[in-house]
Amino acid sequence: MIWSHCLASLLCLTSKPLDVLIVTPGVTGFSATATITRAGPGFEVAVDNMKAIYKNLVFSHVFLTNLSITSCGAFADNVAHLLSRWFYERGGDRGPTPIYMVTTGCFEYTLLNQFAAAWNMLFITTGSSDPVLRDKSKSPTWVNTNSYPNMFFGHIFYRLFLMQNWTSVYVVLDLDSIPIYQLVFGALDKLVRPRVRAVNIQYSSRKVALDIPALLESFATKSRVMLFLGSASQLRLLLVFIAVVPFPYKAQGIFTWQAFDQNDEIVRAAYRSLLFVTMVDASPSGLHVTKAQLDELKAKWTTAFQTNPFYGNQDLMDEPFIPQLAAANAGIEVLAQVLNESMADADFDPRNGRALARRFFSRTFETSSGRIILDQFGDRTPSVSVSYFNDTTGDFQVYLRSNITNGDYDYGAVGSVSWFNGSQLPPNEPMCGFIGDKVECSALTGTPAKHLNTALAVVVVALLAGSICLGVLIRCIVKGSGNIWWALNGGLLEAAAASQAKLAAVNV
Ligand SMILES: *[C@@H]1O[C@H](CO)[C@@H](O)[C@H](O)[C@H]1NC(C)=O
Ligand SMILES: *[C@@H]1O[C@H](CO)[C@@H](O)[C@H](O)[C@H]1NC(C)=O
Ligand SMILES: *[C@@H]1O[C@H](CO)[C@@H](O)[C@H](O)[C@H]1NC(C)=O
Ligand SMILES: *[C@@H]1O[C@H](CO)[C@@H](O)[C@H](O)[C@H]1NC(C)=O
Ligand SMILES: *[C@@H]1O[C@H](CO)[C@@H](O)[C@H](O)[C@H]1NC(C)=O
Ligand SMILES: *[C@@H]1O[C@H](CO)[C@@H](O)[C@H](O)[C@H]1NC(C)=O
Repeated sequence: MIWSHCLASLLCLTSKPLDVLIVTPGVTGFSATATITRAGPGFEVAVDNMKAIYKNLVFSHVFLTNLSITSCGAFADNVAHLLSRWFYERGGDRGPTPIYMVTTGCFEYTLLNQFAAAWNMLFITTGSSDPVLRDKSKSPTWVNTNSYPNMFFGHIFYRLFLMQNWTSVYVVLDLDSIPIYQLVFGALDKLVRPRVRAVNIQYSSRKVALDIPALLESFATKSRVMLFLGSASQLRLLLVFIAVVPFPYKAQGIFTWQAFDQNDEIVRAAYRSLLFVTMVDASPSGLHVTKAQLDELKAKWTTAFQTNPFYGNQDLMDEPFIPQLAAANAGIEVLAQVLNESMADADFDPRNGRALARRFFSRTFETSSGRIILDQFGDRTPSVSVSYFNDTTGDFQVYLRSNITNGDYDYGAVGSVSWFNGSQLPPNEPMCGFIGDKVECSALTGTPAKHLNTALAVVVVALLAGSICLGVLIRCIVKGSGNIWWALNGGLLEAAAASQAKLAAVNV
């Protein structure tokens, strides 16, 4: 009845609901952050919300996965077959409804992009990005809401070093931490020479404990700037040493032995030597949403995890990963926004993925999970912030934010840095050289220069996401597990303190 009425009236065409099928190919399991198991509720909740908001859009959604494949590599090997069979069984590009691919992406996204280009299908990634996205002859339908600054992993730190005129850095990577740190390590290594000399140290915290005294001894002769790429529990371990070991900065007398009776105080003191680089600022202010908005979404994601066995995380043992969920939510929301506004255009063809993708380029979208700024290629501009520790509030204070223009990574100052009550970070090399042997120094005073050689070190810490405990990291001695990056493990600290006490006894 309605249909025949609509045939008679052109006006009616625009008010006819648009049927849309969203397909999300992805790997299941816990091998990466971008699995369906971890990010699925981000899609599900968004699709449900969009159904309620847009009466003119009829969304269907399917996860395309193979439960017996749980590794990114194996999934990438299988996805071509999985996706193309599914697509052609549904009638291909002549199927009953337009199909859009909105997905997280582990290793398979460049392959999916090739299919999307060949099928002229809109392709939105929410967990991956690649330089090929900028080549619109190869990626005509690709749009990205991923909040990881993949393209800038190296530049984030390189830029910071250059800004500070730091020409040497000591880079420490825990190979057993999240894989992203390894990517950062590799990207930075490619980039820094010749302007910054980097000493690269890798270790596996699960295999063998880091020999921190030896590390610090080596560090002290190479630079005063350390970039630490590891979990919070490893960092805490390191910090205890930095704070209490009478080496190499004993003369400052800033860190005291008294702090021993209260672990948090030790770490609190040590935090003052840190700069935090938050690679994905997923706090409400970083996302430009209210806390209430984010909390509402979080509650829905939690419910989805707890009620749907498909996500395999019903006890929430695996902490929901907000940046991933937020990016997935945003991917669906921007799609709904663009489709809704496009339906008002007479020449809108929902099956033309190329034309549809262009409707996203160079635009800013407000979504319930954050502001999405897309550049002229349809790539999301990530939000990275650098903060120092405010000893008064026990909180992080952002003083730099990424400012990416035309694909160039830079920082813009939003405040001035405060570091041990001063307004400057130290240079990477002490005035009198690392071992106090610079000619100009001893010539100057005639006294052993060692005493002048006591300035503190800066430890630059990469945080993946600043959503969960940022601001309360110290008070946030959460859960027992040392594997979760933000967990500050009191047990580890105790062990470190005990072995430190032994070390001190030997030294005395
Ligand atoms: C799922 O993966 C398994 C193992 O690789 C394979 O044997 C099976 O055929 C796959 N199923 C589908 C539907 O592709
Ligand atoms: C870095 O060096 C330049 C040129 O020598 C100088 O203008 C600038 O103030 C220095 N920056 C810092 C943070 O020391
Ligand atoms: C959908 O688009 C119409 C027309 O452009 C607009 O008036 C309406 O506010 C949009 N709906 C929503 C929920 O944004
Ligand atoms: C620390 O935070 C307090 C309260 O917001 C502020 O008054 C103070 O200026 C901050 N200190 C530094 C060094 O940023
Ligand atoms: C960001 O960079 C642009 C171009 O380099 C510059 O004009 C703008 O002032 C910068 N914004 C901030 C906040 O630093
Ligand atoms: C920094 O200044 C505050 C207030 O002037 C003082 O209480 C604190 O001890 C100072 N901290 C350091 C590390 O000098």
